[in-house]
Amino acid sequence: MSVTHADSTYDTAHPTTEGTELGTPATETAPNTAAPGRGVEHVVGRVSEIPPGEGRAFVAGGTQIAVFRLRDGSLHATQAACPHAGGPLADGQTDLNVLVCPLHLYAYKWSDGASTNGAPPIRLFPVREVDGALLVEV
Ligand code: FES
Repeated sequence: MSVTHADSTYDTAHPTTEGTELGTPATETAPNTAAPGRGVEHVVGRVSEIPPGEGRAFVAGGTQIAVFRLRDGSLHATQAACPHAGGPLADGQTDLNVLVCPLHLYAYKWSDGASTNGAPPIRLFPVREVDGALLVEV
């Protein structure tokens, strides 16, 4: 797997401190429920940009995403636009189980992205922290 950040690539399978911005991963948080290993990881920002219990919008490899840092410290990433009518999911309210869209209050489960209100599911992306950097696989 490789990580793209600006104009550099970071091979997570064979980390090295030479020529990378990240160096050897030292700390990692609990993984997202989305299955990793299907896409390319992108450094989108710093975990410290997201207050606990909130979400922020980022772009990963040209895809607009919303990343949440839950109060238990876990990270979750999903599509930026709500599948119901395009609401800004990064501005939604969340607890440890669901994300609620701010526009019409549809709720989506972090476990599998399914809506509790019958809307189409949200897409979940693998996300993790490496030395304070947010890596999202798209
Ligand atoms: S746009 Fe998200 S619930 Fe309607």
